[in-house]
Amino acid sequence: MKILVVGSGAREHALVLALSRDPSVTGIVCAPGNAGTAALAETRALDATDPAAVVALAREVAADLVVVGAEGPLVAGVADAVRGAGIACFGPSAAAARLEGSKSFAKDVMQAAGVPTAAAMVFEDDNDCAAYLAGATPPYVIKADGLAAGKGVHVGLDLPTAVDFARDALRSLGGRVVVEEFLDGPEVSLFALTDGAAVVPLLPAQDFKRAYDDDEGPNTGGMGAYAPLPWLPAGLVDDVLERVLQPVVDEMAARGTPFSGLLYAGLAITSRGPEVIEFNCRFGDPETQVVLAMLETPLAGLLHASATGGLADVGPLRWREGAAVTVVVAAENYPGTPVTGDEVTVGVLPNGVDVLHAGTRLDGERVLSSGGRVLSVTAAGTSLEAARDLAYQGVAAVTLRGAHSRSDVALRAVRGEVRAPEGEAGGRTPAR
Ligand code: AMP
Ligand code: GLY
Repeated sequence: MKILVVGSGAREHALVLALSRDPSVTGIVCAPGNAGTAALAETRALDATDPAAVVALAREVAADLVVVGAEGPLVAGVADAVRGAGIACFGPSAAAARLEGSKSFAKDVMQAAGVPTAAAMVFEDDNDCAAYLAGATPPYVIKADGLAAGKGVHVGLDLPTAVDFARDALRSLGGRVVVEEFLDGPEVSLFALTDGAAVVPLLPAQDFKRAYDDDEGPNTGGMGAYAPLPWLPAGLVDDVLERVLQPVVDEMAARGTPFSGLLYAGLAITSRGPEVIEFNCRFGDPETQVVLAMLETPLAGLLHASATGGLADVGPLRWREGAAVTVVVAAENYPGTPVTGDEVTVGVLPNGVDVLHAGTRLDGERVLSSGGRVLSVTAAGTSLEAARDLAYQGVAAVTLRGAHSRSDVALRAVRGEVRAPEGEAGGRTPAR
């Protein structure tokens, strides 16, 4: 099977790495790719959000399967165009990608499917929104309705700041804002493969969204992740499959816009049980790096089955023992405008560590930084503690001027300090 992977981040590097280890894969093209994917796959230039360009490249390289990494191309209709050209595509249609692309659409689907989520109100008028916020209980949670590359959500205690954010969002991002109830509890990213009918959950993971240790500093695309979650109540994945993932997939099919590809449920584990914070329509970054580091089942067959309606027949997935941890090495000034163009070098790595590239490019033989998140140093080990130690040994082998990483990725989980709240979700034995 020849596969075209569309994207250029560490998520795509992780996908390319897993695909390169699958004996059924005969060739991989990654477009536009990065310096890391270039070592494993043919690299081609591509405007990933241009559906016609993706189709043309898929035809030119005779791809049997196109795997779309990011939400932008999916919302722009890349999967529709590829499927329309008769080529299998892993990723939802533009209509189904609205689950990520529109917060109000996602709320509507969840309501129709009876999925537990934060209570929400949608506003189109800033004065109505301000009046509602004035009577609401903090913390205030406000979400711009469209894709905003991680900048569309505000969570905070201060009323004037919340009102200003809503006003700005209505003015600059347009349309609507969603104001919702604050969900208290640890967050879980649960990915599921689906072909529009069958749903196969992957290992639960957790990411670290704030820039600095102890969850201080601004939000980022994600500074690290680990999987699985030793503190998660037993049965939680089955519970989310039954109460969230399958009902949403069934609801999307009933609306005539089936969702196939990867459904990413961002959950808060509250005292009432798991509740949905958001859906994404693609693999998460950096969680994919740890989930795929644990997956033993060959990946290409799974993605192809998801793209072509054969997921009910794939059987149970196989996972390695232990855990995986990834730590992001970010450029100076990230998540502000990052400093780019610096040389990245990696020394000797211990066994079990992969340095996955995100914002890098080749300059002759040299690797230069080209984005905010530069590397995602990923390790699998026999325990969470072992994986964490290996990942940080990998980070220590990286040289990049001005780089910063969090030093506490998975630390609280290793120390047994993360707990699901007491209540419906608590009090059970931990799940793998
Ligand atoms: P989103 O883009 O919807 O994932 O939101 C970004 C981040 O904001 C989430 O990962 C949460 O940390 C936080 N967040 C979003 N919605 C809520 C909510 N209803 N309650 C608490 N935190 C939230
Ligand atoms: N790790 C968060 C995301 O991929 O959206």
